[in-house]
Amino acid sequence: MTQLYRITLLPGDGIGPEIMSVAVDVLKAVGQQLELTFEFQEALLGGAAIEATGEPLPAKTLELCKSSDAVLLAAIGAPQYDTLPRHQRPETGLLGLRSGLGLFANLRPAKILPQLIDASSLKREVVEGVDIMVVRELTGGIYFGQPKGVFATESGEKRGVNTMAYTESEIDRIGRVAFETARKRRKQLCSVDKANVLEVSQLWRDRITALAADYPDVELSHLYVDNAAMQLVRNPRQFDTIVTGNLFGDILSDEAAMLTGSIGMLPSASLGASGSGLFEPVHGSAPDIAGQDKANPLAQVLSAAMLLRYGLDQPVASDRIEQAVLTVLDAGHRTGDILSEGMTLLGCKAMGQELIQTLESLQG
Ligand code: IPM
Ligand code: MG
Repeated sequence: MTQLYRITLLPGDGIGPEIMSVAVDVLKAVGQQLELTFEFQEALLGGAAIEATGEPLPAKTLELCKSSDAVLLAAIGAPQYDTLPRHQRPETGLLGLRSGLGLFANLRPAKILPQLIDASSLKREVVEGVDIMVVRELTGGIYFGQPKGVFATESGEKRGVNTMAYTESEIDRIGRVAFETARKRRKQLCSVDKANVLEVSQLWRDRITALAADYPDVELSHLYVDNAAMQLVRNPRQFDTIVTGNLFGDILSDEAAMLTGSIGMLPSASLGASGSGLFEPVHGSAPDIAGQDKANPLAQVLSAAMLLRYGLDQPVASDRIEQAVLTVLDAGHRTGDILSEGMTLLGCKAMGQELIQTLESLQG
C-alpha cells in the first residue's frame, strides 16, 4: 500500500517559488519510485503573505502547517519590507511559525562536499573533511525573552531591551536532542556559551554538564562563543556536533555554512517534541536574482531530503535524493554560485531536470 503524506509548501519570497518548484518535482519523482504519495498544499508566508493579507503569518497558514505531516519552506524577505513595523516584517512571520509549531530544535549540517571544496574561501587543507552539525535552540533565548521592546526612560531617552533567558527545561530538551544527534554521528558534542560573563550561560553549562551523565558514550566539551567562532575557522575539523542557544546558533551556523563555500547547498531542519517539522534552506530569498532562473535549487532539494529523513522517517527516499545531488555534481553541473572552471553552468530549471533524469537512472 502506498503511504500518503500531507506536506505544506511555503514558497515565500524572492527565489523561493523557483527553487520550491524543483524540490516538489524531485519529491514527486522519488515518491513515484518508492510508492510514497504526497499531497501538497501551498500557503502564504513572509512578503507574499503581507501582499495578500497584510500580515506575514496568516492564521490559515499556521493551521495548515499544524495539520500537515511536514512543512517545506523556501525563503522569505525582501528589501521593501525592511522598513515595515516589526510585527509586519517577513522575519516576524518565520519566528511566529517556529514558535507556533513549537520547533525548538534547529539542525544545521555543514558538510564539505569534495566536489565543491574549491568554492570555500578557506584553504583546502583546512576544510577538507569538515562535517559539522549545529544544533541551535530556536524558540527561546534572546529572540523571545521578556521584557523586550524600546521604552522611554525617565529622562525621556529611549532604551532598547532584549532579554536572554533560558529555563532549565528549555536547556534540557535541546541538550537531549543534541546528545542524541551526536550519538548518531561521531559522538562528540561541543556546547557553546558565554558562561564567563552571562548568568544564563552558566545555567546552560551546568545543565548540559548534568545531562552528560545520561550519555556516557558521548564526549562533551565546552567553548565560549568567541573562542568557538575562532576555532571554526582555525581548525573546523575538530567539531562534530555543536549545541548552542538561539543567537549564538544564528551566528555560528552562518559561519559554519560558509566553511563549505556555498550557502546555496545547505539545508536545515527545525523539529519540536511532536507534530510537523519545518525544513528550509539556510540561505535567504536572494531578491537580486529572483525570477531569472539563476538560483541554486540544491539546498531546497536537500531540505526536502531532510524532510523525508527527519520529518517522515523515510531514510531510503532521503538517501536517494542526496545521491542524486552528488551524482549531478560529479557530472560537472553547476549553478552560477558554485561554478568553477571546466564545469557546466545550468539555470535553476535545468538543474531540476538533471536531478529528475539522475533519479530515473539511479532507479535503473
Ligand atoms: C535564520 C535567519 C532568521 C533567524 C531570521 C530570518 C529571522 O537568520 O534562520 O538563521 O535569525 O533565525
Ligand atoms: Mg541566520
